[in-house]
Amino acid sequence: MKAPSVLIIDDEPLMRLSMLDALKAVGYDVHAAATGQEAQAILSSNTFDIVITDLRLPGSDGLSLLQVCKQRSPRSEVILITAHGSVETAVEAMKLGAYDYVTKPFGMDELLLIVDRVSKVLALRQENLRLREELEGRFSFEGILGKNDRMREVLEKIQLVSATDSTVLIVGESGTGKELVANALHRSSPRRDHALIKVSCAALPETLLEAELFGHEKGAFTGALKQRRGRFELAHKGTLFLDEIGEISPVVQVKLLRVLQERQFERVGGNETVEVDVRLVCATQKDLKKEVQQGRFREDLYYRLNVVPVILPPLRERREDVLLIGEHMLQARAAKTSKPVKGFSQRAQELLLRYSFPGNVRELENMIERAVALGRPEEDVQPWDLCGFSACPYLGGTQQETCGFCSEGLTGKRATSAMLDSLASAREEFEKDYILGVLERVGGSRTEASRLLGLSRKALWEKCKRYGIPSSRGESDDVGE
Ligand SMILES: Nc1ncnc2c1ncn2[C@@H]1O[C@H](COP(=O)(O)OP(=O)(O)OP(=O)(O)O)[C@@H](O)[C@H]1O
Ligand SMILES: [Mg+2]
Repeated sequence: MKAPSVLIIDDEPLMRLSMLDALKAVGYDVHAAATGQEAQAILSSNTFDIVITDLRLPGSDGLSLLQVCKQRSPRSEVILITAHGSVETAVEAMKLGAYDYVTKPFGMDELLLIVDRVSKVLALRQENLRLREELEGRFSFEGILGKNDRMREVLEKIQLVSATDSTVLIVGESGTGKELVANALHRSSPRRDHALIKVSCAALPETLLEAELFGHEKGAFTGALKQRRGRFELAHKGTLFLDEIGEISPVVQVKLLRVLQERQFERVGGNETVEVDVRLVCATQKDLKKEVQQGRFREDLYYRLNVVPVILPPLRERREDVLLIGEHMLQARAAKTSKPVKGFSQRAQELLLRYSFPGNVRELENMIERAVALGRPEEDVQPWDLCGFSACPYLGGTQQETCGFCSEGLTGKRATSAMLDSLASAREEFEKDYILGVLERVGGSRTEASRLLGLSRKALWEKCKRYGIPSSRGESDDVGE
């Protein structure tokens, strides 16, 4: 990897040179300026990973340089050198976005330590960016994430058909991403600069839906005081998304069929023929084929709509996507709410991977929102953050009737067959789970866990050893009573 570039700004020649030499010696790409003006000139045509500037400079000051630097290159990190006693200015500098400050007099070792820390942060940020780009490029399209084979086929299909005007029928259970796909189809199509109009066909009764879609003439019905254009007209040159298409009545089905065949229709209560250029995208949770067989949906319309079918599998059939989508949503939510939860704990991951998600991705999304709200900053999300019950069985509480995990038997007690084997093994299994749960709750501290469990540290240590529970990092295995 390229060595981080550093700009040193200090008017004292000796200081400047010592810093220059010290940083060069450990491999940084170092440049130096003696005054604020000189620094501004350099900064106007170069960017640096790290800028180290004295707070007091002839002709300018470190704070304004800090601002210039942050404006020009927000990714640069600035370290300020302050005189002894100017802590307030240093605090102000941190507010303005400085990474850190050193107080004079300081040793080169101290400076090197800070610069080293900054460059590690920069490297990490770079790595995150690279990973995100890789992830987004490979496993996502227009915000739809998925690495499951069927989802990758879906993503590929969307990219291929978005360039065409073919009618697309999106089929999937509630919350599987049908609207997201419709958005993606429009946004990546040549129609993207025109409107994407959405209509939920289930939300309106038949007559209203007809008027909503095709518009009406003045006086077409009581209350129709003037002519009104319908959604088809509003979507001219763009895309019309008809959600829950399986709900439309026979009358509307006929009218829709005609628009698809002839690209024209009449407004309700009128004779004037209106022509439109609309790309149609429909979605349904229903099995339309079955609806056709049962005589509720016109077969000819079905074939017209089902030109390009996009089938979204339920989330339980693409478990490899659960963590991919979950992690992404967790990071996005954490950033949005400025609550830096870390990731999912081992047990939270296990739960997510075993749960059936009847509400699909939308349920996962709500769960993540709850977990970020309830989770602790700088810590991993735990099972009880996901379900939101403080009396979660994972915490030693009881089963919750309204909890999805509990109703699927995901109560933290993993053993089922073992439990049936014998009472002893069932007890052990339970004990192991229980200890794991408590340890997780107290962040791995055995001292704290033994207190909560009412066990001596030695007894807990022995149990952990028996059950193969490793001690957490930073905790010694020393039993010391
Ligand atoms: N593959 C995915 N990647 C990322 N986010 C997704 C994915 N699928 C769905 N989502 C998100 O999940 C939520 C639900 O998706 P959407 O509204 O598109 O589902 P739907 O199939 O239209 O549901 P319904 O049938 O209930 O209307 C949205 O917030 C959406 O952004
Ligand atoms: Mg929807």
